[in-house]
Amino acid sequence: MVFRRGGPCARALNNLNKGYLMGECTVLVGAQWGDEGKGKVIDVLTEDVQYIVRYQGGNNAGHTVVIGESQYVLHLIPSGILHEGKICVIGHGVVVDPKALIEEIKLLKTKNISVSGRLKISDKAHVIFPYHMKIDELREAKRKKGKIGTTKKGIGPCYADKVSRVGIRMGDLYDEEYFKKILDENIKEKNILIKDLYGFDEFSKDEIFEEYIGYARFLKEFICDTTLLLNDALKAGESILFEGAQGTFLDVDYGTYPYVTSSNSTAGGACTGGGIGPSRINRVLGVVKAYTTRVGEGPMPTEFGPQLMEKIREKGGEFGATTGRARRCGWFDSVLVKNSVEINGIDNVIITKLDVLDELETIKICSAYKYNGKIYKSIPGIPEFLDKCEPVYEEHQGWMEPTSQVKSCGELPLAARKYLDRIKELISAPIMLVSVGKSRQQTLVYSVK
Ligand code: GDP
Ligand code: IMO
Ligand code: MG
Repeated sequence: MVFRRGGPCARALNNLNKGYLMGECTVLVGAQWGDEGKGKVIDVLTEDVQYIVRYQGGNNAGHTVVIGESQYVLHLIPSGILHEGKICVIGHGVVVDPKALIEEIKLLKTKNISVSGRLKISDKAHVIFPYHMKIDELREAKRKKGKIGTTKKGIGPCYADKVSRVGIRMGDLYDEEYFKKILDENIKEKNILIKDLYGFDEFSKDEIFEEYIGYARFLKEFICDTTLLLNDALKAGESILFEGAQGTFLDVDYGTYPYVTSSNSTAGGACTGGGIGPSRINRVLGVVKAYTTRVGEGPMPTEFGPQLMEKIREKGGEFGATTGRARRCGWFDSVLVKNSVEINGIDNVIITKLDVLDELETIKICSAYKYNGKIYKSIPGIPEFLDKCEPVYEEHQGWMEPTSQVKSCGELPLAARKYLDRIKELISAPIMLVSVGKSRQQTLVYSVK
């Protein structure tokens, strides 16, 4: 890519918000292990769309949006909620902790953001109960060394119930007889596990029933058939932006199993969990951090040693938005991201947190892996490959200049532009935006082709 001052890649961000995603159905996913900056990017792109839809995961997600002096961390409500008039949908593929959701709604209200009339929750979204959270916590505690490092929000046990066909959906809470019956069956079964296997106190059916009936009353105005809503919106030519949570390598099928979450965080999840057919999707966007991070356990070939870890963690503020845990940090892994581009069918990428690398003299990119003396440019189907492989690095000169105030890609230091160009080449995907800070304004258009 040739950069010219005032040329196409020097266009200001507001040029992007002039209908680029209009009339389109776009899916945005995290291309690594989550926390790529999806919340910020969704907020930036929301101006161009009418509907923003979460389709999987639950309040294990933490999506940060910074507007002026205010910082918002969204866990269940789509990150488009901060734009007036936009409709935010929690699709049936999401698992909903109603208590956490109500807290989120109330917190937004204290900041003068009303969700009334524009938050829609699927009647088919499965509900997280206290026993899900307890099982998540107890299972992790029992595993000790082999633990996954979950957020302990009950995500895995709730999805397990859904797939086992014993789960309880948001809509079920409004049929009190049915709810009571199915809750009773669930609690009987779960209490055996909780008491006999883990030695923990049993849950009371009546307490949970009363508590959840209260939540159901509060949330009633938001419940609807979101599949119908979105398909009608598509027919009317409205624009929809699907907000992926987690990241590609946390996907239950494509990720570093078992160190994954329990849903399909890849682009296909937007169809199964959002309620639209694959032929309706016009574009898939991948959010890619300019380096790599991961929270929780599992392989991470490019993980830094202690000194760099500390430096980048501090500079990048790499602490979990949901649990506050320190994120593991490492060099950019192009093999992984290239794989992500293929799995998701990513059309364009958005590179975030480039500014975090501003003070590094040299920057490495993993361009291949070495395993048993052989070089691999993609991930082979060898169990434990990612645990045992050695990253093969190429070294790039750092730019050693601040980038957070830069107003266009053309103004970026030459070494930074070369770094971006090399990433683009290695992952075989065009770059659309580059983010150099938390705020909306710190977003540069690279190319809108
Ligand atoms: P998400 O889960 O993908 O939405 O990402 P998180 O919100 O968990 O984590 C991303 C963090 O990086 C948040 O604190 C954002 O405010 C911050 N952030 C996003 N983009 C940038 C950027 O370009 N530069 C810097 N320095 N911070 C960013
Ligand atoms: P966002 O949407 C980063 C990780 C957990 C753990 C694994 C399983 O903010 O990018 P779970 O509680 O889902 O059963 O935990 O998945 N994890 C995330 N890591 N960002 C997230 O969400 C995550 N959601 C879950 O740390 O390793
Ligand atoms: Mg996050």
